[in-house]
Amino acid sequence: MPEIALEMKNITKRFPLVVANDHVDFKVYKGEIHALVGENGAGKSTLMSILYGLYQADSGEIFVHEKKVNIANPNVAIDLKIGMVHQHFMLVPPLTVTENIILGMEPKKNSILIDMEKAEKSVEELSKSMGFKIDPKAKIENISVGIQQRVEIIKVLYRGAEILVMDEPTAVLTPQEVEELFGILKSLKKQGKTIIFITHKLNEVKALSDRVTVMRRGKVVGVKYTKDTNQEEIASMMVGRKVIFDIKKKPLNLGKTALKVEKLKALNNKGLPAVNGISFEIKEGEILGFAGVEGNGQTELVEVITGLRRASDGKIFLYDRDVTNYSPRNIREEKIAHIPEDRRQRGIISDYTVAENLIFGSHYRPPFNKGLA
Ligand SMILES: Nc1ncnc2c1ncn2[C@@H]1O[C@H](COP(=O)(O)OP(=O)(O)O)[C@@H](O)[C@H]1O
Ligand SMILES: [Mg+2]
Repeated sequence: MPEIALEMKNITKRFPLVVANDHVDFKVYKGEIHALVGENGAGKSTLMSILYGLYQADSGEIFVHEKKVNIANPNVAIDLKIGMVHQHFMLVPPLTVTENIILGMEPKKNSILIDMEKAEKSVEELSKSMGFKIDPKAKIENISVGIQQRVEIIKVLYRGAEILVMDEPTAVLTPQEVEELFGILKSLKKQGKTIIFITHKLNEVKALSDRVTVMRRGKVVGVKYTKDTNQEEIASMMVGRKVIFDIKKKPLNLGKTALKVEKLKALNNKGLPAVNGISFEIKEGEILGFAGVEGNGQTELVEVITGLRRASDGKIFLYDRDVTNYSPRNIREEKIAHIPEDRRQRGIISDYTVAENLIFGSHYRPPFNKGLA
């Protein structure tokens, strides 16, 4: 029998509107790369937040190396040699690579001074052990997202992690960076580390993992050795029905041009170019997809079209009418709707009722606004 690094038994976690984890059993062997997969909202991040002590389960038990533990907060998780690389990095941009890595665990020269040389040396050694080089003195704000992710990995290793949790680490990476990340994770596995890898990309499950646990609507619906399963089976477990991979589409009957974007430019929150002269048009009845790695201007593009961000140059036409830099309210009145990427942050106010949320955007008009009595 393989050695068990970690076991979560019968974990249940309720949020006001949903049972995020519903009697979940999750077992990870020492030295394996274990993929945790499921659609958005399946409960993967919640389960890992419980493991890392960010949330407390309503019920259930956690065992690390077969010893029952109570992970009250992330410090306990770190003491148990569990490390987490979050979906959105938690680095401090103006600080250097090394300063970020040692934050809160600074090696001291004496009772006052930090031993920076020693720290930089550990950073270099850790990166070398995984087969890459990193400049320990570089500032976080000046390095790419792919390199920032490596800093996060070194940071958890510096804290002694033996079990590494990575929450959707490839969402922000280019295909080239994904390849490199897989190389790093495989070398960590060779060093005996245990890795939990959250994803919903099935080719990544196949390429990287030894075993896979599939979640759906808060429940575990399957655990497999990766070599004994295939993408079709994992996909159908994820969604609960057969998934057809080759879709046959009817020819499209295109109508008039509905939306036309011309040489659109916009800046991001830091004032740097985010949208650089994009042009496209969408015809009635058409669905247009934008592919790309997160952080390449998709968010800003949507914000400009929906009036949430100013265009610095270029034009947006709705049926030949210029709607560039209309306010969000005017855009809505032009019948352009927007479902934001972060629905909980920007799509709803969760303290308000469903009815109140539903009338947002129309609340100032009859019949909701009856005028001054
Ligand atoms: N802090 C929270 N408050 C309320 N609901 C939450 C919270 N975190 C997650 N949820 C809900 O729990 C469910 C599982 O979410 P999550 O664990 O983030 O899924 P996944 O990581 O698989 O996409 C979702 O329905 C989500 O909306
Ligand atoms: Mg998640």
